[in-house]
Amino acid sequence: MNRNELTRRLLEDAAQRSIRYRETCDDRSVAPDREAVAALGRLQQPLPDAGMPDEEVIALLDDVGSPATMAMAGSRFFGFVIGGSLPVTVASNWLSTAWDQNVVMHEVTPATATMEQVAIEWMVELLGLPHGTGAGFVTGATVANFSALAAARHRVFENVGWNVEANGLIGAPPVTIIVSDEAHPTLFKSLGMLGLGRDRVIRVPTDGQGRMIAAKLPELHGPAIVCTQAGNINSGAFDPIGDICDAVKPGGAWVHVDGAFGLWAAASTSKRALTDGMEAADSWATDAHKWLNVPYDGGIAFVRNPADLAAAMAITADYLITETEHRNPSDYTPELSRRGRGIDVYAALLSLGRKGVEELVDRCCRHARRFAEGLGGAGYDVLNDVVLNQVVVSFGDDATTRRVIDMIQADGTCWCGATVWQGVTAMRISVSSWATTDEDVDKSLDAMIAVAAAVLDG
Ligand SMILES: Cc1ncc(COP(=O)(O)O)c(C=O)c1O
Repeated sequence: MNRNELTRRLLEDAAQRSIRYRETCDDRSVAPDREAVAALGRLQQPLPDAGMPDEEVIALLDDVGSPATMAMAGSRFFGFVIGGSLPVTVASNWLSTAWDQNVVMHEVTPATATMEQVAIEWMVELLGLPHGTGAGFVTGATVANFSALAAARHRVFENVGWNVEANGLIGAPPVTIIVSDEAHPTLFKSLGMLGLGRDRVIRVPTDGQGRMIAAKLPELHGPAIVCTQAGNINSGAFDPIGDICDAVKPGGAWVHVDGAFGLWAAASTSKRALTDGMEAADSWATDAHKWLNVPYDGGIAFVRNPADLAAAMAITADYLITETEHRNPSDYTPELSRRGRGIDVYAALLSLGRKGVEELVDRCCRHARRFAEGLGGAGYDVLNDVVLNQVVVSFGDDATTRRVIDMIQADGTCWCGATVWQGVTAMRISVSSWATTDEDVDKSLDAMIAVAAAVLDG
């Protein structure tokens, strides 16, 4: 067999296996069973001297790996804020993997660079961000927060005459960093990585839903970065971003929005009000692998003035083609070399259209309300106002709730994780997948209620 024939056979086999995986994903326990996890021991073999034939490699990955996966691509995974992957994005991901483009420079990867640029323009429009906002495609909201805050760091220091990219932070003028008590841990991590300090922040208190209380913002003097949140990881609540902008923008502060999943509320007519005023901010971080349902991994760092992001990220070298009339993708990301993550975003947006994104967001929110009504109706405590796709529920005291969560996970009909919300142990339901239907919600509710009743009956 020649090389092309071997390649064709291998890829067709992998495609068949992938299709089978997706077709059977909802027929099995959402969490992998014990035997499947134990069988992972088969992967722990010594590095072979002579390689294994390719088709045997893929067979091993599938036979041992597939059963031991968590069915995140299925329709009843409600843990964390994960999202599934739209079929068109799995297909675009395969195709772009076959292209194997390194999206550094427009001149050498014009197809992918163009798709990414268009995807950015579409998202800016869809999410109601200011015209001209620029962006970089990164691995997720963590690096999107990092990148956007790197742009913020550039701007606030430049405003006081300090070139932070050249001179670093040693000897730099002080900067005030504001976060809320409910900021996501990745925000603190990003601040730490930027040398701004995880703990050198002023924390603003939050209300019972986890929203920053704008009236408690301190008076700001000098350079400042104010970090807000669109979508609390537990409750789904939004900081009053408009009020925060009104309070701090006149003094020249940079406002950042961590909207890992919540930013997509702006694509829905019925949910958009949650994001009111966020267009006055300077930067926004979001994920595509959450609510847009593209395969892992994909996040986006949006910055109102793209030059601020480029000032933090762009480099030149004699061997790179940096002099171009086009947008060079690597000018806007921490990475130089990377895959074309924006291709799947382009494919998702083209396939869904404006209406499809809105329907996806609305559907997930409707499912979340159905969960809240079902569990509340069964006598369990829904702890949050269900304003988006997140439901936080308690089944009794902390130990009982933990036990119920463990048993729901073991039951396998669906999967939800544990959290602590406002001091109370709770189960967190996040509905983020395009694939979840009303029937999935009902089936999951039945399982949750039956498991909880069994645990409570002793
Ligand atoms: C508000 C918020 N910010 C940041 C993140 C981190 O996102 P990622 O894991 O995609 O980096 C999350 C993850 O759930 C989040 O909810």
